[in-house]
Amino acid sequence: MTAKRIGILTSGGDCAGLNAALRAVVHRAIRNYGWKVFGIRDGSLGLMNRPLNYVEFDLKSVGDDMLRLGGTILGTINKGDPFAYPMPDGSKKDRSQDFVDGYKELGIEALVVIGGDGSMRILNELCRKGGIPMVGIPKTIDNDVAQTDYAIGFATALNVAGEAMDRLAPTAASHHRVMILEVMGRDVGHIALNAGIAGGADVVLIPEIPYTLEGIAKKIAEVRDEGRNHALMVVAEGCKTETGESVTTLQSGGQARYGGIGQYLAARLAETVEAETRVTVLGHVQRGGMPAMRDRIIASAFGVYAVDLIAQGKLGRMVAWQHGQVVDVPITDVAGITRAIDPYGTLAQTARGLGIYIGEM
Ligand code: F6P
Repeated sequence: MTAKRIGILTSGGDCAGLNAALRAVVHRAIRNYGWKVFGIRDGSLGLMNRPLNYVEFDLKSVGDDMLRLGGTILGTINKGDPFAYPMPDGSKKDRSQDFVDGYKELGIEALVVIGGDGSMRILNELCRKGGIPMVGIPKTIDNDVAQTDYAIGFATALNVAGEAMDRLAPTAASHHRVMILEVMGRDVGHIALNAGIAGGADVVLIPEIPYTLEGIAKKIAEVRDEGRNHALMVVAEGCKTETGESVTTLQSGGQARYGGIGQYLAARLAETVEAETRVTVLGHVQRGGMPAMRDRIIASAFGVYAVDLIAQGKLGRMVAWQHGQVVDVPITDVAGITRAIDPYGTLAQTARGLGIYIGEM
């Protein structure tokens, strides 16, 4: 009998823990089932381009250093939807058939996709089109993939944001300042709210809960009245202005990305709050670096389970972390859905209970 051949790719923005997941998939597939594992480079591009761009993994190529290594050794893309691929002349072209043909050319029998909600949606559509059996593994520092409590990368990003709070607190106190920390998270506030609670913030703003400038100013005045001469504030990049506009900056290639809400708020607060304010934008520091232990563990558990799903013929599923264990859910229940903070859930109530201003419902 010939060995089963499976492919694996990473798609969307990178994060810490991706290599740990790759390692786990390769170990389980080779050690337990004797399969061949092909790593596809640069997300879907590796199957769209000719010649195909891939590497065959063996156990030697996925040593324990993979646990410690940030980013993804396979490379990834977060633009270039194969159904609307951006061409050099600015037009969009449907290149989905190139992907399907590439899959057939490589002769693999199932695909493991490590991605966020957007990648799950696109890859799921691609796989449906090509009749490709797919299993998904959730990753994103934003932690917004539906049906899973944790996505790979979140724990590391949270540690980075928490450490930033620890570093900002003493300098805020020394200079009697209001420090605003702007964190990533796209349209959700998981990093912001968790880091705010863990880091002792006075104000946490997240896209899920509206705020007022008066509310923030009142909280800062309250802090001063309680005898503290500095305050810490965390704002999620996806928060809108109080009049409902997103704050974005144009990146190379004409791509708009969130960024700047911290500076915006600092300028607005200067009108009402007397204290000096400084802004720190954490940015991609949250995505890189050595993965947190939690991410390594989740990534390893996801990788092993994903291979077992393929072995059991359970396809079209995504592995998920629920109530302390790995389970699997239909990808169609996840694809393109964003898991937001529940404004009345445990974390929001905890923040309110601690006296943190998190906006007004
Ligand atoms: O989705 C992950 C994420 O890091 C978001 O938190 C952030 O808004 C975005 O990606 C940044 O994208 P890019 O790496 O393209 O600048």
